[in-house]
Amino acid sequence: MQEFKGKVAVVTGAASGIGEGLARHCASEGMRVVLADINEQSLQALAESLPAETAVCKTDVSDSEQVKALADFAWGQFGQVDLLFNNAGVLISGASWEIPLKDWQWILNINLMGVVHGLHHFVPRMLAQGTPAHIVNTSSLAGLMAAPLMAPYTVGKQAVLALTETLRYELAETPIGVSALCPGPIATGIADSGKDREAQAAQTDGQKQLMQFLSDGISQGMSPADCAALVFAAVREDRFWVFTHEDFKPEYQRRIDDVMHNRNPAYNQYTVDE
Ligand SMILES: NC(=O)c1ccc[n+]([C@@H]2O[C@H](COP(=O)([O-])OP(=O)(O)OC[C@H]3O[C@@H](n4cnc5c(N)ncnc54)[C@H](O)[C@@H]3O)[C@@H](O)[C@H]2O)c1
Repeated sequence: MQEFKGKVAVVTGAASGIGEGLARHCASEGMRVVLADINEQSLQALAESLPAETAVCKTDVSDSEQVKALADFAWGQFGQVDLLFNNAGVLISGASWEIPLKDWQWILNINLMGVVHGLHHFVPRMLAQGTPAHIVNTSSLAGLMAAPLMAPYTVGKQAVLALTETLRYELAETPIGVSALCPGPIATGIADSGKDREAQAAQTDGQKQLMQFLSDGISQGMSPADCAALVFAAVREDRFWVFTHEDFKPEYQRRIDDVMHNRNPAYNQYTVDE
């Protein structure tokens, strides 16, 4: 997809962070933007601040019916959808076996099923349009590498990456391009997204320290605006991989080497050189 002016984008998780950055970039490209999130108040404030034709649709991506309603709304408002960002996501931490099952279900229903719902309700209609289009699913560096105390997040993000790669193969002969956004730390509110969940309340001091380390890294991360610019460059080039922090690659190489040499995995905290 090369032309953005006048085209229509749908952004989930648009009320904050990376989604907000993507929505702002869409507006700067002259696109019309459908803003979707559970946080309707922030969506309205964002819509009022954007120099673009916007439409706000309160949507919980974990609910298939609400994502279907979002698709109906988008086509009803603007008659087309050209760029879809399946971006909404949340984070909780804790030992794999201790995280309450309802927290596992909560995060996977948003981070994984939210993307599945987006594809299920948007791809058939985007295919029927027959015009150049693009889908960007937000995974993470956690989609490529596991880390302790992050199991539900990592499991969801690795599944999203597998899904997105599959989608790329499946849509190869169509006018729909597919990209996987795998950000490193981006300065957003995600570290707080699970703060009211039971899993967080049950953390040990050691687990809290590790999460504080992660949270500090996120708060000093790349700006959502810079992240959005990288995403749009990838969409223009029809590039699958969208990385914000290339310096993770030696660590990823180590993982590949572990596989090649049947070596046991040893966790090595990935840190970003700013
Ligand atoms: N910030 C990072 O460092 C980072 C790194 C890698 C990947 N990501 C991914 O980026 C995506 C965006 O996260 P962010 O960092 O901008 O965090 P954020 O918390 O700033 O934004 C996430 C948005 O998703 C919304 N949301 C939460 N649950 C929802 C639901 N059920 N339905 C619809 N919207 C919902 C929230 O209200 C919020 O506005 C997520 O998928 C996240 O996993 C973030």
